[in-house]
Amino acid sequence: MDSRPEAEATTRFDAGAVRADFPILERRIHGRPLVYLDNAATSQKPRPVVEAMAAYYATINANVHRGVHTLSILATEAQEAARETVRGHLNARHAHEVIFTAGTTASLNLAAFSLGQLLLQPGDEVLITGMEHHANIVPWQLACARHGAVLKVIPITDEGELEESGDAHFTERTRILAFTHASNTLGTVNPAKHLVSRARQRGIVTVVDGAQAVPHMAVDVQDLGCDLYAFSGHKMFGPTGIGVLYGREEVLERMPPWQSGGEMIDRVTFQHTTYAKLPFKFEAGTPHIAGIIGLGEAVRWIHGNDPRAMAAHEQALLEHATRELLTIDGLRIIGTAREKVGVASFTIDGVHHYDLGTLLDQQGIAVRTGHHCTQPLMDRFGITGTTRASFAPYNTAEEVDALVAAVIKAVNMLR
Ligand code: ALA
Repeated sequence: MDSRPEAEATTRFDAGAVRADFPILERRIHGRPLVYLDNAATSQKPRPVVEAMAAYYATINANVHRGVHTLSILATEAQEAARETVRGHLNARHAHEVIFTAGTTASLNLAAFSLGQLLLQPGDEVLITGMEHHANIVPWQLACARHGAVLKVIPITDEGELEESGDAHFTERTRILAFTHASNTLGTVNPAKHLVSRARQRGIVTVVDGAQAVPHMAVDVQDLGCDLYAFSGHKMFGPTGIGVLYGREEVLERMPPWQSGGEMIDRVTFQHTTYAKLPFKFEAGTPHIAGIIGLGEAVRWIHGNDPRAMAAHEQALLEHATRELLTIDGLRIIGTAREKVGVASFTIDGVHHYDLGTLLDQQGIAVRTGHHCTQPLMDRFGITGTTRASFAPYNTAEEVDALVAAVIKAVNMLR
């Protein structure tokens, strides 16, 4: 399966029908209709997700995998049904390849800690890219420091694409390649399948940060061929506090546990502990059961709403926004890659992004401003931050027009 968004598809998508599932979109902010364009930070939640979580707490609430009583059995069944739903969404081979975590950051920390223990020796190299989120930099820095390894970076171009084919940066010491599938700041979609295939030819373990990809495109982990794939629920219409680390069974079996405690054990004595089988080896403590159920419901919601049409609609919004924003004097789009998800980051000469973000909020428009947890990327572009509009299927062309009009108004006030 091609895991790229479908820019060329025409959009006959009914955003209005989708909006009806999101009560928050009826809110007014400072007396103006909310225009929510901060979806890369977190998406809004459709009614079925909110209701499934409330129903769990109201009618089932019990701990999982711990009791013989009816509620515990029902909670366990609901959680494991959600795991199976996520497995199907990713086309993973086994449900036990789906590890539930607190989010992408937790998934990447798990990956870095455990793979570091398993693979890294002094002088080994971990390769990342110049467009990584801090959550895919710092855990590897810590792992490298623990094991005497070296962090290497694939540079990026002025357009925000990887500078050369990534494999030019592989050396005989590269043990791990960790890269983002789609950049949260630039929108760039990286050639994930190509990078993974080149890495695997050299026996390099691959870790993909899919936080910004999973909400926008079909991701088939078997087709991609990666070893680990991390993402969050809350950017794909699910709740906060829940995420996934997908791992190929053979790799997860070899990886040592990260966090420890209840549920992840097989047998404990004061002298020695053996660990539970997958996925529980990596799920210490009581999980976020309602979050897992909400994530399963979010996946069902996506499939019930024609994901291909939603992706095409977002691409149409991105193209419209890019075209209209570029009519503004002094505006520069940061991230002009050929393949992008619905992220439009920009700077405007003489205008600070915080001032702009504040004035947009006064007009009911929610965008993110700042470095977007990608300070090295800001350094690469010689800027301190951007204003970022990021799109979801419930956004409309009228909202993009409202953004552009509001930016023009704000710029006239600030200059
Ligand atoms: N990583 C999220 C963002 O890009 C929070 O806004």
